[in-house]
Parts: sequence; C-alpha cells; structure tokens
Amino acid sequence: MDNEQYTPPNEMPVMPIQPVLTGQVAVVTGASKGLGQAIAIALGQAGARVLVNYHSDEKGALETVETISAEGSEAIPFRADVAREEDVESMFAEAKGRFGRIDICVPNSGIQLNAPVDEMTLQQWQRVIDVNLTGQFLCARAAIRQFKRQGIDRSLSAAAGKIVFMSSVHDIIPWEGHVNYAAAKGGIMLLMKSIAQELADKRIRVNAVSPGAIRTPMNVEKLTTPELFKSKLLKLIPYGRIGEPEDVGQAVVWLVSDASDYVTGTTIYIDGGMTLYPGFIGAG
Ligand code: BGC
Repeated sequence: MDNEQYTPPNEMPVMPIQPVLTGQVAVVTGASKGLGQAIAIALGQAGARVLVNYHSDEKGALETVETISAEGSEAIPFRADVAREEDVESMFAEAKGRFGRIDICVPNSGIQLNAPVDEMTLQQWQRVIDVNLTGQFLCARAAIRQFKRQGIDRSLSAAAGKIVFMSSVHDIIPWEGHVNYAAAKGGIMLLMKSIAQELADKRIRVNAVSPGAIRTPMNVEKLTTPELFKSKLLKLIPYGRIGEPEDVGQAVVWLVSDASDYVTGTTIYIDGGMTLYPGFIGAG
C-alpha cells in the first residue's frame, strides 16, 4: 500500500455557476493548468470572455480554451512571460483588440523554486520574485490603465474593473525551504491592499485569494504519496479534505461579480482552515 499511488477523493460539493459576468472580459494568467485553468473556466461559465495566458504549456491552454468554448463562452490563448513587461503589454493589447474591453484581471501565474535559504541561488530567488510578485504587478498595472480609460459601464458592472491577486496561505504562514515564494506572497498582500486603497475612489475593486493545499500539478507529489498526504498534509487542514481548483474558481467568480461590490482590499483564505493554527488543536 505504501508504494501505491494515492488519490484523495474529491469531496467538494458541486455548485452551479450563475451567468453573472455576461458581456465582461477577463485576463487570467497561468491558465494552462491548475488554479489558473479552473479560474478561467469558472469565469467562462459565468459568461465572461477570457484571454487564457500560458508560458510554456500550449496544449493545456488550448484545453482551457476548448472547455470555455464548449460551455458557451469565448476564449483565446496567449503566450506571455508575465515577468517581461513587453509580453504583458502585448497580452493586454491583444485582449482589448480581440474583445474590445477588459473588466477582470486575475494575475495567477506562479512558480516554486525551493531550496534551503543558505543554498538558494540568486537566480532561484529572483525568478520566483519576478514571476510571482513583479508579474502580478505588471498585469495589475496594465489592467488598471485599461479600467481607467473605460470607466464604469453600469450595464455590465457597478465597478470600473476588478483585480483578484493570487496569493497563498504563505502570505502569513512562514514556509521554511520556500523563502522566495513566501516573500513574494507576503509582498502580494500589501501590493493588493495598497492598490485597493489607491483606486477605491475610481471604483476599481482589488482583492486577493489565498489558497491552501489544492489539488494542482504543483502539489502532485504531496497528494499522491500517502506518507506525505495522510500523515502530514492532512493534519494541517482542520476541514479534513484537500481543496479542489474549483473551490478557488468559485470564490474568484464571486469576488469579481457585483455580489461582492462592497468588498475591496480583502484576502479570502480558501484553505480548509489551514491558517487557523491547527497545531494548537488539543495542544495549546
Ligand atoms: C503552495 C502549495 C502548498 C500550500 C500549502 C500553496 O501556496 O502552492 O504547494 O501545498 O501553499 O502549504
């Protein structure tokens, strides 16, 4: 049994997504797999047209596009390295050119290059900061410029634009061996709040989601190795199940819809209670 691959069961309740974003346009980065793919599909199910960004996994991006099209909305794939200013600028120009406007930005792309701190190379540090922090800044900046040019169209939304940054439980939980990743996510928290403060009067809403352990390609090893999953990871999740990418997709749909119109500058933790210090249960 120990050597067999383990697949945690999917215990997520299925909730139908309502078409609350009809007519709106979303840019989702890192949408060829994992969270970005689920978010892009959820936004498509909610009626948005979606630019599906990818860096290297073109096949995955095309799957995302096909799923969105099959479910009745429109999507286009676009290759860009979010850490490169010129790539990000062309990506937003393409979204505006193809769809005529941009209402929603989900800068989701993220990587992990792990190492003990004293062995971490400058390259490992820099690339993670470039993709996970600078990449989100560049996308948010491009989106905001477009939101300001457009202003509010009340037939589509009460806000002039919505950004949902991709953070992590590691914006508050320290993570040994991943100092580059945790530093980037900690940075996202105050990047998000500062932009939210700066743009609230323009009715641009800016929030973040902070997922815990979700079933994504990034976490395959932890999920399929019983010693890692059952005896270690699951102990960190009081709710007792692994998160599904769709758990995050649904939260993002709510955060960019008018149902959350009074919500800005907030982080939603989607983590089954991982940030509730479960180590204190029966031990504090
Ligand atoms: C990371 C996952 C990790 C989770 C909880 C996320 O930000 O991407 O790899 O399992 O945090 O530690």
